[in-house]
Amino acid sequence: MSVRREDFDYIRMLLKEHSGVALEDGKEYLLEVRLSPLYDEMKVDSIAEMVQLLRRDNSAALRERVLNCLLTNETYFFRDIHPFEMLRTEVLPELFAARAAKRHLRIWSGACSTGQEPYSVAMIVNDLLERFPGFTVEILATDIAEENLERAMSGQYSHAEVNRGLPAQMLIRHFTKKEAVWQVNESIRRMVTFRKLNLFGSWAGIDRADLILLRNVLIYFEQDAKKEIIGRIRRNVADGGAVILGASETVLGLSEEFHIVHAGKASLYRPKAAEPVAVLSGVKR
Ligand SMILES: C[S@@+](CC[C@H](N)C(=O)[O-])C[C@H]1O[C@@H](n2cnc3c(N)ncnc32)[C@H](O)[C@@H]1O
Repeated sequence: MSVRREDFDYIRMLLKEHSGVALEDGKEYLLEVRLSPLYDEMKVDSIAEMVQLLRRDNSAALRERVLNCLLTNETYFFRDIHPFEMLRTEVLPELFAARAAKRHLRIWSGACSTGQEPYSVAMIVNDLLERFPGFTVEILATDIAEENLERAMSGQYSHAEVNRGLPAQMLIRHFTKKEAVWQVNESIRRMVTFRKLNLFGSWAGIDRADLILLRNVLIYFEQDAKKEIIGRIRRNVADGGAVILGASETVLGLSEEFHIVHAGKASLYRPKAAEPVAVLSGVKR
């Protein structure tokens, strides 16, 4: 069944307003693939009827339910492995050393989907804490989609999900098998706090973090929106902190406020120090 142009345009307008995610021309099929599982629940049997319902019904909850289905939530444990190796061997030990006085680290996973990314970080941090006793590490994980966060908070993953990227010894150490699912152990689960957050909304209550992971979400935004979010990320990363993006993402062309550090097959973005201000002369150097 084909999707009418006006219905496609209406839904992609709503999606961009809701999440900043831009659906390009030619992605009409995505509507059919991702929305048809909602037909029974919404008592409709075509995209055209769904659009009618969305236009008629002013319920934000309904709109959110539909639009979240169009977001790509693909993720897996230790996705792309190299950034996680870099975290384990270089970035986190350096941050622990740099924060020795405060003995506190703050990490933020900014589009965490169903939780595999923050739990991967938590497993690494858990190992490192043996070398850096007395530290407290807060891991905040946020996403726009409540459905993802519910799954993430449950800490339950299918056999297929734990088979993607998670090393066997990590599975044995940090998960417990419960019938058909694997449950993340409490020791790892309690390290991560999940919270709903739209990157384009308010970041009130999100403290500056020493490490920010914002992986595989910028790719869905248009250039101006990417710039806006990278600018906000720069303001939310602590001095001496670091930002990690997805493998196909970069700050190049978006911001001049980061140094790019290549470490093997992974890249890291370090905020440039603020320019010193010549207070006496009142002249900015
Ligand atoms: C492809 S997943 C990436 C998950 C994880 N970071 C990774 O790299 O494996 C993209 C996530 O971004 C979320 N997302 C999309 N737009 C968002 C927005 N405006 N604010 C917050 N999260 C958003 C989606 O819900 C989805 O969970």
